[in-house]
Amino acid sequence: MKLRDDMLTHGVNIVTAYHEGRRAGLAVAWATQVGTERVLLCIGSHSATRQLILESKAFGLSVLRADQLEVSRTFGTRSSRDVDKFEGVAHHTAKTGSPLLDDCGAAFDCVVANVYDVDDWLKIIVGRIVAAEFVRENYEPLIYRSDDY
Ligand SMILES: Cc1cc2nc3c(=O)[nH]c(=O)nc-3n(C[C@H](O)[C@H](O)[C@H](O)COP(=O)(O)O)c2cc1C
Repeated sequence: MKLRDDMLTHGVNIVTAYHEGRRAGLAVAWATQVGTERVLLCIGSHSATRQLILESKAFGLSVLRADQLEVSRTFGTRSSRDVDKFEGVAHHTAKTGSPLLDDCGAAFDCVVANVYDVDDWLKIIVGRIVAAEFVRENYEPLIYRSDDY
């Protein structure tokens, strides 16, 4: 059988990267903590952001609040190849050079620690957190539901 994305419970994150004048970001539901210093992302080859993450060896992870469905749609339904998703979205540059959203539940600056091929399409990218820029008190996270997109 095949898992639909909402059969397991996932929060929604915006994963971002910058390299040589290009910036990109995508919505990521397939993400989790690995121990206390690392996070894991699963990203397909369709993603322009994945290419920038692999080139810059860094990424930003912005965890969305429950009231940020529109941000999730902006980053999750079009490619950074076709549109600058950061237009009108308040953000800043983290120490690694990755963009991070100003307005979200929590924001982490990460460097790539390991990359694993799952198959021809999917890679697992493990990042080491170099800075937890902020974590808002008691925020309600956005939970992924396929009907919302
Ligand atoms: C809520 C949500 C979660 C998503 N999670 C993932 C994910 O975990 N991995 C992935 O490869 N794509 C995921 N996607 C799809 C990408 O966000 C989407 O293809 C995006 O347009 C890629 O943008 P990019 O080409 O600018 O990187 C998700 C989309 C949505 C709406």
